[in-house]
Amino acid sequence: MTRKIAVVGVGKLGLCFALNLERSGFEVWGIESNHDYLEQLKTRTFSSSEPEVDSLLSTAKRIQFTSDISVIVDEDIRDVFIMVATPSLPDGGYDHTQVERVMSMLEPLGSAENVRYVYVGCTTMPGYCNQLDDRVKKLGYRVSYNPEFIAQGSIVRDQLYPDQVLIGEANEEAGKRLVSIYDAMVLNTPAYCRMDPLSAEITKLATNCFLTTKISFANSIGDLATKAGADPNKILAAVGSDSRIGGKYLGYGFGFGGPCFPRDNRALGKFADLQGYPLHLSKATDVVNEEHLAFQLDQQLQASNEDEEIVFEGVAYKKGTTQITESQQLKLALALVKEGRRVKVIDRQEVLDQLSELYPGKFELVALDTIQQVRD
Ligand SMILES: NC(=O)c1ccc[n+]([C@@H]2O[C@H](COP(=O)([O-])OP(=O)(O)OC[C@H]3O[C@@H](n4cnc5c(N)ncnc54)[C@H](O)[C@@H]3O)[C@@H](O)[C@H]2O)c1
Repeated sequence: MTRKIAVVGVGKLGLCFALNLERSGFEVWGIESNHDYLEQLKTRTFSSSEPEVDSLLSTAKRIQFTSDISVIVDEDIRDVFIMVATPSLPDGGYDHTQVERVMSMLEPLGSAENVRYVYVGCTTMPGYCNQLDDRVKKLGYRVSYNPEFIAQGSIVRDQLYPDQVLIGEANEEAGKRLVSIYDAMVLNTPAYCRMDPLSAEITKLATNCFLTTKISFANSIGDLATKAGADPNKILAAVGSDSRIGGKYLGYGFGFGGPCFPRDNRALGKFADLQGYPLHLSKATDVVNEEHLAFQLDQQLQASNEDEEIVFEGVAYKKGTTQITESQQLKLALALVKEGRRVKVIDRQEVLDQLSELYPGKFELVALDTIQQVRD
């Protein structure tokens, strides 16, 4: 019999995951609370900027979408992934309200005799999944932590070819179930990193904190080299060719941004503060990111005339995406405007729409499609 799986919250991450599960042969229920969006998923009219999503969605036969979470009882679903949003709080921690809402809907459906396995795929503050597990264990749920290491613009692919599958298991059975699900889904042989949920929550944040530290380090050395009149790219390529270091995330360019890196770095700092063990690296990484932006601004101002138009080919935090959250490219463009410079942004219409709403009149906006048509 086909194994049934529910994914609660089929947004950017959850939809890709649900479609990958479906492609691997599972029968999948995508549970979604946003009604307009749900309608688009049901009628297969939703269009995503993530590669492969549209084609997977249009051909997927074993996936159904609903807003009714009681489907987990009707369909006797044992494995439930939660992939709702966990926005950042002003203090750097994560807001678990949406996860709480899902659990409050699951609680009355629980049965102590019939255990269901809940896997939290959202980014959480370390310690949260254990607290949740303690609370709902008696109602027939075991809560594990299972985050994704993916990048926007390649979510489907990253889920199919992960370096590691991080499993913070509530118990042995939960871990085994997750391994069997991933074994069926992935197309490579990832390392299965199984541990308790608290350790896994720290691992997720620590991984991203390491990467932000590496990016900030590279940019610091690059800025220093530039100031001294040396060649930043040659220096960093040489440093990265040492196998103990590695060249990934060691280029000289924009600072880190996007919906994950800055948040995870800060959240780890917040967690460390709460433990009474301040993590200076996390704060320093953030400070360096800001200093690097100031350095880039200075360089741009010196390199251009006051009446010259400065052109940005893309202001999303990463090429190929339409995300402008904490984009350093956009921050630089805004800083230049603040200095009185004229800035033209060439990007996808989706990005331009966000810019006209958030920063009306600040930039000259040119749609990438128009440019491509002119070039063709
Ligand atoms: N998107 C990424 O690149 C990425 C990467 C790594 C980790 N994460 C983490 O994954 C989680 C999800 O991120 P996302 O970007 O997919 O968020 P998202 O906002 O795109 O998707 C969340 C979805 O959950 C739905 N939802 C909210 N409450 C619900 C409920 N009660 N029942 C059913 N559906 C509900 C929302 O309508 C939305 O469609 C977050 O914790 C995020 O930090 C995201």
